[in-house]
Amino acid sequence: MSMRLNKFLSSCGLASRRKCEEIILAGRVSVNGQTVQNLSTVVDEKKDKVCCDGKEMKLPTEFVYLKMNKPKGYACTASDEKGRKTIFDLVESDVRLFNVGRLDYDTEGLILLTNDGDFANLVTHPKYHFEKEYIATVEGEVKEGDLAVLRKGVVIDGVRMPTAKVKLLSFDGKWSKVSVIIDEGQNHQVRRMFEAIGKDIKLLKRVRIGDIHLGGLYRGKTKPLTAEEIAYFKKGM
Ligand code: URA
Repeated sequence: MSMRLNKFLSSCGLASRRKCEEIILAGRVSVNGQTVQNLSTVVDEKKDKVCCDGKEMKLPTEFVYLKMNKPKGYACTASDEKGRKTIFDLVESDVRLFNVGRLDYDTEGLILLTNDGDFANLVTHPKYHFEKEYIATVEGEVKEGDLAVLRKGVVIDGVRMPTAKVKLLSFDGKWSKVSVIIDEGQNHQVRRMFEAIGKDIKLLKRVRIGDIHLGGLYRGKTKPLTAEEIAYFKKGM
C-alpha cells in the first residue's frame, strides 16, 4: 500500500504524524538510500526501504496501547537532550512505543503510550474533542472571580486561551484544589492559565482523557488499555 512518508513512519511506531514531519524536515529519513525532506513524498511499504537515523522502519505486526501514571520529574520524550529521566525508563516493552501527547516534566498523571500512529493522531487531534481533566493544587484560595476569568479564556501574550471548565474542589485554608477541563492542549496551557491570574501551580496532575480515568494506577506504573477503552477511542476513526 502506498502512503505519505509521515503516515508510514508514524504507523511504524516512530512518533505521532506531526512529530514525524519534524523528523523528516530534520533530514533524518532516507528512502532507498536517499535523504528525503519533502513532506509530500509517498512510499510503498512493499517496495521502498525507509530508514530513520540509519535504522530500517517496518510496519508493526501488532499494536500496543498502554496507560501510565507518569510521575513528576520524568520527561515525555524517547531521549532527553538534558539527559533527564524519561517515561520510557519506566516501561518494559519489546516494541518501540511513543507517548500520545505530552505532559510537562513536573506534571504527573495519565499519559497513553502506543506504537499505533493513527491512534495517537486521533486522540490528540482537536477535531475529536477528547477532554483532558487536570487537578491543579494551588497555594491560597482560588476565588469565584478567578474561576470566572479562567472559564472565559485568559489572554496570554495577546492570545486568548481556549475556554476551560473549572471548578473549585476544595480549600483547606492553605491549598486550593481545582479541576480544570480543556480539550485542546497548547504548551503548558494549564500552568499559563494560572500564571495569568497570578497563581502558581504547586502540583498538576492529569486524571482523565475523554472517558478514560487514571483510576488507582500507582505512580510510575503502566497497564494495557482494555478492549473497551481502545474501542472507545477508535469509534471516532
Ligand atoms: N498543561 C500544563 O501546563 N502542563 C501539562 O503538563 C499539561 C497541561
